[in-house]
Amino acid sequence: MRRMLPVITTLLLMAGCGYAPPVVDAALVARASAAFPGTNQAQLEQARATYLTACTACHVVRDPSRYSAKELDSYLAIMGERAHLDAATQESVRRYLQAARTK
Ligand code: HEC
Repeated sequence: MRRMLPVITTLLLMAGCGYAPPVVDAALVARASAAFPGTNQAQLEQARATYLTACTACHVVRDPSRYSAKELDSYLAIMGERAHLDAATQESVRRYLQAARTK
């Protein structure tokens, strides 16, 4: 069993750090601009970068698909404040995360 410990630890670490939020590809831009007219690729890329930096100051990056659209919006309202985002940045992070949800 002792010999398994490093293996188990490694697997747990991989599970914890393995998630990367989706890159901003054409499909994601299409989903975002259908839901939020006027959203463009540059805003979404900026929002993803903000998500990876400002939103990981206190915890690991979360998979937005784990939340309903409504849950995500209410977390964003609280977390945007914690991360000291201005209103426009918070809105574009919200759009990115909503479009990044896969279910
Ligand atoms: C100042 C610290 C801090 C910052 C910055 C922060 N969070 Fe959080 N967040 C927390 C704490 C504390 C919790 C509750 C404990 C936990 O689940 O880790 C939490 C929980 C969450 C949850 C719910 C987790 C769950 O499933 O219960 C989501 C989603 C979330 N944060 C998203 C974000 C997003 C998006 C940002 C960037 C806009 C952000 N957070 C920035 C501290 C922070």
